[in-house]
Amino acid sequence: MDLIRFENFFYRYKGNEEYALNNINLKIEKEDNFILLCGETGSGKTTLIKCMNGLIPQFYSGFYKGSVFINEKNTVDTSIANLSTEVGIVFQNPENQLIAMNVEHEIAFGLENLGIPRKEIAQKIEESASLTEIEHLLDKAPFELSGGEQQRVAIASILVLEPKILILDEPTALLDPKMARKIIRLLKEIQLERKITILISEHRLDLLLPFADQMILMKNGRVIEHNSLEMVINGENFQNLNLNKPIIYSIFMKLKEENLFEGKIPTSIPEAVNSLKSVLK
Ligand SMILES: Nc1ncnc2c1ncn2[C@@H]1O[C@H](COP(=O)(O)OP(=O)(O)OP(=O)(O)O)[C@@H](O)[C@H]1O
Ligand SMILES: [Mg+2]
Repeated sequence: MDLIRFENFFYRYKGNEEYALNNINLKIEKEDNFILLCGETGSGKTTLIKCMNGLIPQFYSGFYKGSVFINEKNTVDTSIANLSTEVGIVFQNPENQLIAMNVEHEIAFGLENLGIPRKEIAQKIEESASLTEIEHLLDKAPFELSGGEQQRVAIASILVLEPKILILDEPTALLDPKMARKIIRLLKEIQLERKITILISEHRLDLLLPFADQMILMKNGRVIEHNSLEMVINGENFQNLNLNKPIIYSIFMKLKEENLFEGKIPTSIPEAVNSLKSVLK
């Protein structure tokens, strides 16, 4: 069974002539562990994500064709509340997502809406706060927190609902490099511990590549490739996209150009070190 499936899906925002999503056929299966969504700015990543919990087409007015299924539920006629038990989404600016008086209430909010008993709520808050390392922030107001702390609270309040897939749209955009690395490491740990699928849209490829298993490439509203990280990184679609390429990628592409390297392009520093050793032999 697919966690998420787009079938011949098109979407155009109201008032726009162009399709923001153009004939999307995409399947995310249970075993697609850590997926990186990447594409040039304006290519449709955020729009694609908005389709993954029914916000499009239910909340945004516009024109659509085709279907999107979340765990076999059609997003046209399943309530967003129901879909949110399958998919948790953290959008780019966590500030807009945090509404409660303090962090504890923030995390409890979704559970209260689902009618979970109080005792169970307390236990789930504890687990989720410990996983995201925010136990010490529970009685603070969201506006008192740093960007990285807010981001972790937003993640905790989604995780507590135990979604099968966690989707994050540029979760590190507002963070410094150190905090960005911390959040991504944390997400990888959560993915392994909870055995869930994580899909991240990110421009910081240097940071993400060592953690990703799969990659989805978008261009002009189309998904142009969805494959294992290794296949995508070594393919022409990735090479031709106008993105901030990872440093390791650029170094090894240069070595290839100079006929100094023939193998697969590495995606992490340890792999790169091994490949360089073979070059220097
Ligand atoms: N609310 C909206 N109303 C009208 N058009 C929109 C809206 N949101 C996005 N668009 C348009 O849809 C297209 C895809 O935008 P989208 O935000 O999905 O791109 P993106 O890949 O997430 O870009 P970025 O990397 O900059 O976040 C763009 O042409 C954009 O201008
Ligand atoms: Mg976006």
